[in-house]
Amino acid sequence: MAKVVWNPGALLAPVAPTMVSCGSMEHPNIITIAWTGILSTHPTMTYISVRPQRFSHKLIADSGEFVINLTTRELVRACDTCGVKSGAQVNKFELMGLTPKRASQVSAPLIGESPINLECRVTQRLPMGSHEVFIAKIVAVNVEESLLDAAGKLDLQKCGLVAYAHGNYYALGESLGSFGYSVRKKPLDSRTPQNQRKGRGTHADRRQKPISGHGARTHSGGRPRRKAAGNPQ
Ligand SMILES: Cc1cc2nc3c(=O)[nH]c(=O)nc-3n(C[C@H](O)[C@H](O)[C@H](O)COP(=O)(O)O)c2cc1C
Repeated sequence: MAKVVWNPGALLAPVAPTMVSCGSMEHPNIITIAWTGILSTHPTMTYISVRPQRFSHKLIADSGEFVINLTTRELVRACDTCGVKSGAQVNKFELMGLTPKRASQVSAPLIGESPINLECRVTQRLPMGSHEVFIAKIVAVNVEESLLDAAGKLDLQKCGLVAYAHGNYYALGESLGSFGYSVRKKPLDSRTPQNQRKGRGTHADRRQKPISGHGARTHSGGRPRRKAAGNPQ
């Protein structure tokens, strides 16, 4: 490959174009954030990088809480609008016909139409030039029940997640393999029962466990709260 060298730029792609809800149930706002990611598995830490000029910056700085909502095909138009209009001028929930739902641990609302909502509490703030980084602990994860199979395993492919690369939104395409597939000796189906007991399988194979024993419930009631599947990183 022949290369040309460009000046430094934020050309990391694809990234997740998330919809971050903030403020309160009474005065909710949504800001589209692509500069985000996971920092640590245990404790589960994330960050969002927000320009101090944004209306949402003060809301997040004041409350120390926000929710990262994953964007799907159905939500991509709303995601884009929330990234170009300001909550200082318009109620973006109303504008886009989205539903603010009460979160279980934080004062910021969830976006009801997003299938996965990560409730976050800020632990640290880092000025970073044009943006300020809010480092936060993920204190609860809300998962759309229809994405779970009978055993409680999450199938994210069902919800049509969206990626963002160099100014464009893309629907995720076909799966090219699962974690560890490149070194897996035999397909899972052909492993002997003995091997299956010994082997760890893929991280997606590991079943989710309730956070705490029997009585734990979701804020919406019914099912036990579950811990996110173990991550490889
Ligand atoms: C795809 C996309 C990604 C964005 N990512 C960020 C980001 O990571 N950080 C940021 O400060 N602004 C980002 N923005 C811009 C804000 O979402 C935008 O300025 C928004 O209107 C601010 O809303 P607010 O004034 O209600 O806070 C992004 C916009 C788009 C469309």
